[in-house]
Amino acid sequence: MSLKVNISQAEKFLSKKVTTLQENVNQVHEMIKSKSGKGNDYLGWLDLPFDYEKEELERIYALKKKYAKLDVLVVIGIGGSYLGAKAGLEFLKEPFKKTKPEIIFAGHQLSANYLKQLLKYLNKKDYAINVISKSGTTTEPAVAFRLLREHIENKYGKEEARKRIFATTDKARGALYQLATNEGYEKFVIKDDIGGRFSVLTSVGLLPFVFAGINVEKMLKGAQDAWQDAQDPSLKKNKAYLYAATRYALYKEGKMVEYLVGYEPRLSFFSEWWKQLYGESEGKNGKGLLVSSAQFTTDLHSLGQQIQDGLRIIFETVIELKKTDSLTIPFDQDDLDKLNYIAGKEISYVNEKALLGTQMAHVEGNVPNILISIDKLDSYHFGYMIYFFEIACAMSAYLLDVNPFDQPGVEAYKKNMFALLGKK
Ligand code: PA5
Repeated sequence: MSLKVNISQAEKFLSKKVTTLQENVNQVHEMIKSKSGKGNDYLGWLDLPFDYEKEELERIYALKKKYAKLDVLVVIGIGGSYLGAKAGLEFLKEPFKKTKPEIIFAGHQLSANYLKQLLKYLNKKDYAINVISKSGTTTEPAVAFRLLREHIENKYGKEEARKRIFATTDKARGALYQLATNEGYEKFVIKDDIGGRFSVLTSVGLLPFVFAGINVEKMLKGAQDAWQDAQDPSLKKNKAYLYAATRYALYKEGKMVEYLVGYEPRLSFFSEWWKQLYGESEGKNGKGLLVSSAQFTTDLHSLGQQIQDGLRIIFETVIELKKTDSLTIPFDQDDLDKLNYIAGKEISYVNEKALLGTQMAHVEGNVPNILISIDKLDSYHFGYMIYFFEIACAMSAYLLDVNPFDQPGVEAYKKNMFALLGKK
């Protein structure tokens, strides 16, 4: 089994069994399958585990081969054009292991410090750029790309720079499409019917993954299995829908804040991707769960108090990892730290007991708990989790009766910022 969902510590807080939502779930399932719900022109990600762009993937492999000796690939993008790739790299990268090329992100904020130091760092590096923007006019990546384009052209000359810039963008429209066409950059397409936050399994994610040496075939296999597991709407079988229906039922009973909790630091950026997916998809029309995240046991020493004892509007979705590296706690003659009672035990055993003890304490403190278990942090499970959370998100947003695929609220700050900057 690739992934398990246990709702026993959540369901006991509900006045009705989650399976009483089966009829609503069936209706939404039909709506998704027949593409008849709100935002139905953005369902291109639904069959992506099988329908990914094979020709583009071949070109990505060819590029990786051509630029096998690069020191750095700079990936420029923000939001859906950034978080999936970043989440995958963190999920799959062994800590402290240097990859070649090193993947560096830019255009995901407006920090002059960051960009200036990056340009300085790149002076001595052999590098290429993957600029990702569906619209091509998003301020943060556009600013970063201007600077980096100037830098790479100065470093290699305009001709060579052109070959080292790969643009992932709309198939026929937009500023980046236009520029890439004019300059002859290698182009990859973000299809019209795939929104940014659902685009990880397109070239938006696949290009950085291939350059980082990640096995994307296994990732796609994981996503295919998650697709398969999501075909039957029965809440007894469909784990993604079970998760979606449970969080919806908790929300309806006043548990308004969902924390995605991991006990592995490599999951922290996965939570950032998940927050965008659920926050942008559901947080509209005055509705939607507030999404937050925590990394335990680290954050038990900061957020633990509030979760245990603060406003009782929280529930937790915990990701449990079944297999980790083997490492035992050494025996110490003096035992000043009083740890000899667990000497010889695996660190993972201690982490597991921390998870269980925390779950018991939080449930006791009125914090419902959904437990999601996966075997390993590998590309198969990353692919599985991506599709699992995407399809669950569509179900969850439709249960709330909101359009999962638009984000009208994102425009408000831009309008003000552009007015303050004097944009015509
Ligand atoms: O999910 C989304 O649609 C957004 O987060 C976008 O991906 C983000 O705003 C970046 O947009 P673009 O790819 O057009 O630069």
